[in-house]
Amino acid sequence: MPQSILEGDSPSRTASAIANVLPIDDGPPSAGDRVLDAVVGDAFVMQSVKSLLKRVASSRASTVLLTGETGTGKDLVARTIHNISDRAKRPFTHITCSALPDQLLESELFGHERGAFTDARVQKPGLFEVSDKGTVFLDEIGEMALPLQAKLIRFLEDKTFKRVGGLRDIHVDVRIIAATHRDLRRQVSEDRFREDLFYRLNVLSIHLPPLRERIDDVPLLVDYFVNRYNDELGKAVRGVRPAALERLKRYGWPGNVRELRNTIERAMLLSDSPWLESADVSIPVHPSNRPRFELPPDGVKLQDVERELIVQALERVQGHQMRAAELLGINRDQVRYRIQKYRLSCALPPSTRPHFELPVNGVRLDVVERKLLVQALERAKWNQSRAAGLLGINRDQVRYRMQKYRLPWSRKPRAASHHTRPLSQYRSRTRCAVA
Ligand SMILES: Nc1ncnc2c1ncn2[C@@H]1O[C@H](COP(=O)(O)OP(=O)(O)OP(=O)(O)O)[C@@H](O)[C@H]1O
Ligand SMILES: [Mg+2]
Repeated sequence: MPQSILEGDSPSRTASAIANVLPIDDGPPSAGDRVLDAVVGDAFVMQSVKSLLKRVASSRASTVLLTGETGTGKDLVARTIHNISDRAKRPFTHITCSALPDQLLESELFGHERGAFTDARVQKPGLFEVSDKGTVFLDEIGEMALPLQAKLIRFLEDKTFKRVGGLRDIHVDVRIIAATHRDLRRQVSEDRFREDLFYRLNVLSIHLPPLRERIDDVPLLVDYFVNRYNDELGKAVRGVRPAALERLKRYGWPGNVRELRNTIERAMLLSDSPWLESADVSIPVHPSNRPRFELPPDGVKLQDVERELIVQALERVQGHQMRAAELLGINRDQVRYRIQKYRLSCALPPSTRPHFELPVNGVRLDVVERKLLVQALERAKWNQSRAAGLLGINRDQVRYRMQKYRLPWSRKPRAASHHTRPLSQYRSRTRCAVA
């Protein structure tokens, strides 16, 4: 389904070049400064991001590129640029490039004439047209197909385009804000992103730093989210105990501000005390201290592990199925299938503390399954029924997986076969980050 989200639900190495051409004095506080308060952060990097953001918003330059890891605030910053600019009263249109097939994306952006293609029964103006004098936020620009990139660069040159199937040139005045979590330079070197488009977009770029590089902002962000969820959840939480705050500051935050937000929300949902304690805060003690994918003493249901990793992956990428699939080493259909299988809704409930934390760079689901299977078999001294009991599956399912992962049927190695290697040396054929 096409998703052109008008005024949707959600809302920084900084390019020094811009500082040279735009005025340095930020001026007295204004209404725009109050809007800017939505971008929480006092760290030096954030101060320069905010200052740049303000100047970009008031400049006539119409194209901005936002880069940064997932959850660092690209959506929020795009909306903020719009809200403090003189375009604020005109539409802000957010479109996720990876969410639509190429042809549909082209007609969503540029519109189409009647009869331009089979389903084009009526003429339809595109998002650039309906957003005239406003802002179009092209999210995940790194996923845009090359032919459409070519059409976009032509549009960026003079803001003139033709609808699909149309002959007439249409001129609009829109600011394009593009965002990506990808390394576009690398995409260019791999011929997956047009060089001319990259340079066109990169004139004004704002890089949003990961939270781990501005850890001193954690207390500020915690206060912000506590206040927000007090309002939203009707709670009266006064704050976070020092020990809990210390834990929050020691963690690496692979999901960045979004992950911190979810952690505070979850803690507030589950706690009835006016102060959030260390035990309320559901994060690993320290990512690197925690054994990953070690079978708990009583075993674990394989299904629970799969479901939890899918929930965490979807949470980390804000429900984006393709990116969740990348994190888990499966394809998008397999993610969809599992969403249905586990009846996961789009608005994911905050997960209860999972058995295993999804590593920063994701992990292949099959690697996790294999690792747990091997541990269960070893613990059960290769008794398949007992191993099945440890994993919440039946013996046939154990046998099927032993075949799938080419595991030996017994611990006793057979001479001159691959079984002669100790089991602990068996590795999946794919490389992964499992500790
Ligand atoms: N500096 C910030 N101050 C307050 N809230 C923030 C900040 N940065 C991010 N957030 C909040 O964190 C959540 C995730 O931010 P956002 O959606 O903007 O991230 P993103 O960079 O677009 O992530 P993705 O690449 O996954 O789309 C949102 O709820 C947003 O409001
Ligand atoms: Mg985003």
